[in-house]
Amino acid sequence: MNKILIINGPNLNLLGKREVEIYGEATLEDINNELTAKANKAQVELEFFQSNHEGEIVEKIQKAPAEFQFIIINPAAFTHYSIAIRDAVASTKIPVIEVHLSNIYARENFRTESVVAPVCLGQISGFGPLSYQAALEVAIKLLKKNSWR
Ligand code: DQA
Repeated sequence: MNKILIINGPNLNLLGKREVEIYGEATLEDINNELTAKANKAQVELEFFQSNHEGEIVEKIQKAPAEFQFIIINPAAFTHYSIAIRDAVASTKIPVIEVHLSNIYARENFRTESVVAPVCLGQISGFGPLSYQAALEVAIKLLKKNSWR
């Protein structure tokens, strides 16, 4: 069975309590439960990893190809400045999709650059929890076709 790794970066453990006017009321658990339901229907397996620490995320990406065929990542604030996470994504042999709850292009200037997105397959930004659902849909379809180039 195909396995997809879902990585969430700093402060996303606070979803549902954190700046709800921007990020909405769904908790990370709510989002993950919806993803699990979709994955079960498509017969793919998910693993969820959230960390507030850059190095832990780098290590998780480095180890991922041994176990997973695809990564979906919301690097959160690291999106905008972590060259370490960018390099880990650039080095990995498996495809990566970047997601954001908010539309990072419609917010503060410092959020309008992602240093990670250019080394990803693509980015989905601005649809709340649906950004994750959309990314999972794409990942499932590409894995079925066994092609993402
Ligand atoms: C975010 C956008 C980032 O700018 C921010 O630092 C986050 C969440 C999003 O999902 O909209 O923590 O990645």
